[in-house]
Amino acid sequence: MTLTPQRPDGRRVLPMAGLTHANRSAVTCHLRCGDACFKDVPNTTETGYFRDVAATALSRRTVLGAAALGAATVAFAPQSTGRAAAAPLTTARGKGPRPTGLAFDAIGPVATTVDDVTVPSGYRWDPIIRWGDPITAGAPEFDQDAQDHVAQAQQFGYNCDYLDIIVTDRKGTRALLVANHEYTNEGIMFPPTMPAEEVVRTAWAAHGLSVVELRRRHAGEPWTYERTGRLNRRITLDTVFAVDGPAAGSPLLRTAEDPTGTRVRGTMNNCSGGTTPWGTVLSGEENFNQYFFAAGTSAEEKRYGLGAQDSRGWRAVDPRWDATKNPNEPNRFGWVVEVDPEDPRSTPVKHTAMGRFKHEGANVIVNGDGRVVAYMGDDERFDYVYRFVSRDTYRAGGSKRDRAHNKTLLSAGDLSVARFTGDGLEDGVSDGSGEWLPLTVDGQSVVPGMTTEQVLVHTRLAADKVQPTKMDRPEDVQPNYVNGFIYVACTNNTDRGKVGKEGPTEPNPRNANKDGHVVEMMPTGGDHTAATFAWNLLLICGDAASAGTYFGGWTGPVSPISCPDNVAFDSVGNLWVSTDGQPSAIKKSDGLFKVPVAGAERGRVQQFLAVPTGAETCGPVVHDRDGSVFVAVQHPGEDGSWAAQQSYFPDFVGAGGTPRPGQFAGPRPSVVQVTRR
Ligand code: FEO
Ligand code: CA
Ligand code: CA
Repeated sequence: MTLTPQRPDGRRVLPMAGLTHANRSAVTCHLRCGDACFKDVPNTTETGYFRDVAATALSRRTVLGAAALGAATVAFAPQSTGRAAAAPLTTARGKGPRPTGLAFDAIGPVATTVDDVTVPSGYRWDPIIRWGDPITAGAPEFDQDAQDHVAQAQQFGYNCDYLDIIVTDRKGTRALLVANHEYTNEGIMFPPTMPAEEVVRTAWAAHGLSVVELRRRHAGEPWTYERTGRLNRRITLDTVFAVDGPAAGSPLLRTAEDPTGTRVRGTMNNCSGGTTPWGTVLSGEENFNQYFFAAGTSAEEKRYGLGAQDSRGWRAVDPRWDATKNPNEPNRFGWVVEVDPEDPRSTPVKHTAMGRFKHEGANVIVNGDGRVVAYMGDDERFDYVYRFVSRDTYRAGGSKRDRAHNKTLLSAGDLSVARFTGDGLEDGVSDGSGEWLPLTVDGQSVVPGMTTEQVLVHTRLAADKVQPTKMDRPEDVQPNYVNGFIYVACTNNTDRGKVGKEGPTEPNPRNANKDGHVVEMMPTGGDHTAATFAWNLLLICGDAASAGTYFGGWTGPVSPISCPDNVAFDSVGNLWVSTDGQPSAIKKSDGLFKVPVAGAERGRVQQFLAVPTGAETCGPVVHDRDGSVFVAVQHPGEDGSWAAQQSYFPDFVGAGGTPRPGQFAGPRPSVVQVTRR
């Protein structure tokens, strides 16, 4: 592989001389995950035995985004419900046609001091929207010295993670941008003079999601956002959500504010997600525990990492964040939420049928029999991979009634959790078979000693009872609509093999796993509702020179890759992986990588871009037939302070510089598009 020298787009000068940032930030650990990696692993169950335990229809994203821009409008969902592939599915390396997709020369690994987006030769990058950009008619321009919660609630939120660009017209000139806003970094966002309560309220408004209309004149060009788009919307910690599914109204969800247990104010720590075949967006509420002050003494609180922490001081502004006084309030977070970006007046929903854990995201495929199947990861060391199968079937008709029906599909169905069984390493590869262990059947608990409501609200405890496989932080779990397989990004687990912790298993084969791996799962018979599956490891990440790495059987040069987090697929089924943690694992900036999963180049990892200092790469969206790629740049300059910022992306005002109206003299998490020059 020829690695072209990494070059920024050439439009500006790097301002970061002297910066020495090199490690995953303690700030990020503290603010995003509540220092999860420095605390005890919440899963203390004994693994009774190490069983080593490892559709093909077009997707909305494929059709709308990559394959045939404009083939559909947002009013109908183009995913076919034709039967899942009956032909044998194989991952064997072959001489068959090489999947193509976006052409580029891989960039080289980028130093963590480079405060820029680095893209391949022949490409350019532009921000589409930045933290603080106004998205309503009445929203003020961003003013770094005059921030407040009223303005923020009308501006793009902070730390964008999940991202989709949903093209909505046949010409490919209109689209909806939907992004999650995972967490806030008050020390670099707000001036020290800002009143403490206003800091808290503005942080609440910077969480949640954004929906923003995009336009451009011609396909293939960069997009610009519509400041007053009709569908523009902010969802924050003050937006009311409906709770649905079997646990709605449960005593476990009732509070003084909501004695019905059916209405929750807000969503938070929204990490990854997925766009459904019917055009709604799912978002995972992940490290919700860190926002609460709790006793942390019950089995339930311990298993979810709730304790006597008060990292943001929110309980001083609203007692609902004090779980010693409001013990059920934490139960109202940790769900998959569904948002309809086409209807700004719609009430977003929290789906209890899909279980409660530290949801990374959820990704849906329509099975051959019409039921929809969602795959989900619980992103914690030694936690599990889950599957939800809907009770009802998808309607492909595209009418309003069909769409309204499809929006109910995630409200009733069955939840299960994965056990991966290795077949031994004598064959030279990590692979084997697996089974889905049911937690609910016909919507009812099948877990001994637990009611349905308990299974769904305290899903981790329910899963522990059936002995699933403890995975190395499963993040995105996403079906590939081209081959019908599922890909699981296990980002890392440096605790594996530590004293008292589980050691290597065939699906998680490395002790002190700092670089992570990617699992490929193949449903039996191509049926996503089947009780069993086969699996293998597509990637065992790291620098290829390191012992134990594996790249799908590809033995040629590869880009070093570590800490896989979010995944996406292009129109021909290539896997794209974005990373979170390379700075500490391999001392390089996080990036986005293309990985063919079929043909002679299966496993050949090539880096497409790198993100600025301190940032992780999130939400990749690949519209290869349009020649465009999109990423969310999350937590640039995470280690800085108001007085000493460490990134100036993407305004590049620079230290001591004077921002023009709407600019920021510091880092702004932003959505970036990469297009051909
Ligand atoms: Fe928010 Fe699992 O990353
Ligand atoms: Ca094996
Ligand atoms: Ca993530």
